[in-house]
Amino acid sequence: MNAKKLYADYGPAALVTGASDGIGEAFARELAEAGFDLVLCARRADRLERLANALSNEHGVSVESLALDLSEPSSADMIAAAVQRKDVGLFVGAAGFGTSGSVLDIDEADELAMIDLNCRALAQQSLRLAKHMVQRGRGGVVLMSSLLAFQGVAHAANYAATKAFVQGLAEGLRIELKPKGVDVIACAPGPVRSGFAARADMQMGGAVPAKAIPRPTLRALGKRTTARPGFLTKLLSYSLATLPRGARSSILTDAMDKMTRHQDAKG
Ligand SMILES: NC(=O)c1ccc[n+]([C@@H]2O[C@H](COP(=O)([O-])OP(=O)(O)OC[C@H]3O[C@@H](n4cnc5c(N)ncnc54)[C@H](OP(=O)(O)O)[C@@H]3O)[C@@H](O)[C@H]2O)c1
Repeated sequence: MNAKKLYADYGPAALVTGASDGIGEAFARELAEAGFDLVLCARRADRLERLANALSNEHGVSVESLALDLSEPSSADMIAAAVQRKDVGLFVGAAGFGTSGSVLDIDEADELAMIDLNCRALAQQSLRLAKHMVQRGRGGVVLMSSLLAFQGVAHAANYAATKAFVQGLAEGLRIELKPKGVDVIACAPGPVRSGFAARADMQMGGAVPAKAIPRPTLRALGKRTTARPGFLTKLLSYSLATLPRGARSSILTDAMDKMTRHQDAKG
């Protein structure tokens, strides 16, 4: 990744949601190193503040932290105001969570909150950011999809469906916004070590560290529709892509069964 070019293309500032942990935090670190001023957003104010102080001390960039629950509709106006204040040219939408387990046991409110955060809020942020970026003549958008986005997956059906939404949103926006100077990419990794597995109650094997995600994704922004960072993700994505959709569903359902087997012991 060429940090100078990245800054020239998408600077001077980036908005990163989900920056208090995992992949969003890794993007925030990478972008601060490249010289971007930042707006960081998530619910946990203490973690955001600590990261904001560390990044401004280490890299001399200006960092604003916005402690918001993005599943609340009112958060969109707070974000829009920060985007104008900082002249944001790059948006990384990494706030999101997953769930897993039997559809008979899931908590309905949690599932609907997941749709609010992973889909409704992300769509609202993307549409507003797209308008802002088209007005300023250039910009970049990174949306967190998943290996699970490309087929239905049992025991994570609603989560996989939210990621299918994100993947489709990114693909459509990419085509529409490219002629207007705005690059859009979906990032669709397999398992990543972060806070995700604990919240989703999944036990993941072979997960890559979150810091392995930003560089290949930012390198691919403007060049490809979907980034698939990491060797295992590439191997899985390209071997699954040759199979019919139903076969992909079966294989990933088997994988999800393994990742959720510990739930049986809990009863
Ligand atoms: N980890 C994986 O294996 C994996 C694989 C493929 C795709 N993804 C996707 O990558 C994205 C990032 O996940 P991650 O692995 O980095 O998980 P993570 O470590 O749990 O981070 C999720 C981030 O989202 C924030 N968040 C959650 N609920 C929020 C809310 N209501 N309002 C505002 N912020 C909220 C969290 O901060 P607070 O708790 O402080 O709010 C945290 O900063 C997600 O969209 C996920 O679906 C993850």
